[in-house]
Amino acid sequence: MNGAPRINAGRLLESLEALGRFGALPGGGTNRLALSDADRAARDWTVDRMHALDMTVRVDAIGNVFATYAGTEQRAPVLTGSHIDTVRTGGLYDGNYGVLAGLEVVATLREAGLRTRRPIEVAFFTNEEGARFQPDMLGSLVAVGGLPLAEALATRGIDGATVGEELQRIGYAGQAPVGAPQVDSFIELHIEQGPVLHQQGVDIGVVEGVQGICWLEFTLEGCSNHAGTTPMVLRRDAGLVAARITAFAHELALRYGGRQLATVGAVELRPNLVNVIAQRAVMTVDLRNTDGAALARAEAEMLGFATRCAAEHGVVLGHRRLARFDPVAFDPALVELVAQEAQELGLSTLRLPSGAGHDAQMLARVCPSAMIFVPSVDGLSHNPGEHTEAHHLVQGAQVLLQVLTRLANRAG
Ligand code: GLV
Ligand code: MN
Ligand code: MN
Repeated sequence: MNGAPRINAGRLLESLEALGRFGALPGGGTNRLALSDADRAARDWTVDRMHALDMTVRVDAIGNVFATYAGTEQRAPVLTGSHIDTVRTGGLYDGNYGVLAGLEVVATLREAGLRTRRPIEVAFFTNEEGARFQPDMLGSLVAVGGLPLAEALATRGIDGATVGEELQRIGYAGQAPVGAPQVDSFIELHIEQGPVLHQQGVDIGVVEGVQGICWLEFTLEGCSNHAGTTPMVLRRDAGLVAARITAFAHELALRYGGRQLATVGAVELRPNLVNVIAQRAVMTVDLRNTDGAALARAEAEMLGFATRCAAEHGVVLGHRRLARFDPVAFDPALVELVAQEAQELGLSTLRLPSGAGHDAQMLARVCPSAMIFVPSVDGLSHNPGEHTEAHHLVQGAQVLLQVLTRLANRAG
């Protein structure tokens, strides 16, 4: 144990409950799609909390929010944070935890009358989830110069509204420029969202990197016709092609083995009626792998199969890449620092890759970056039942405090 101040467990846990009230679902969990009214309310509440800590708040042109706790020296800040948008069936912790734990670190330092040499900044990034607007990690991608601002603002979401319109509507089209953040380093604290730490009874995940991700959208145009009169061989059935693509994705992942994953998370059929052959299907395929070359092969195979299958059934295929990010390795020195600080607190650690996408994989393009994971009960996430034990939430925040203060106080 070292002499660092202890974070306030009650305050951290209450803040998670409080933020979870914005977009709360009836049986628990949250629906807070990016730039929705619920997101606006959650943003306003979080910004108020930042101001209450006397932090200097700025909003950039893609709606990312940064709050600075000044250091004793004018130097590039150590950045932490995550996101507060959620999927439609989100829990209380995904993203929110990293932002609120960052603010809890600042509250603890402030109460103890402590300032670090470098400033500590806490950020939340726009549309990390990618559930409403694709790609995911949109705000952090724009922040690091990976996507032109104009393109991001013109991105149309699943409901037809653009990012730019929605930022204006909710009052988060900020003035701060995007494109070249001058930060010393970035540390993101997050729930694991997978089963590994919980199953192995480990306190802290030391995240070595993030697997690669590929999101494809297929649009299949067939012909609607009568289910009772159209012979099987004469059908141009978009629903059948969608089903065959779904099965192929699953089999591909099993055939590749290793860390290959494949998910068909959305399929929309038209006209979606019991006695009408589907005229149109729009579907998504999510492919992930820690091995970038294998991921590229998987993507090519998916496209090849979809093309052949559609042709075989007389269906016209269109496709778009909604997101494509290569695997990312975090900074070895920062990864080691996370492990050391956790171990100094007497916590057990395990090195692992992240299965989910995170803003840290974008920040890693511009500064040394790393992540800290805490266990997710039963590995459940993107589900209202997502849960992390209170003591793990508190431990993770304490590790964050120690890593941030170590980085922000180091010489050089
Ligand atoms: C973001 O949560 C993702 O990995 O899909
Ligand atoms: Mn997240
Ligand atoms: Mn998520």
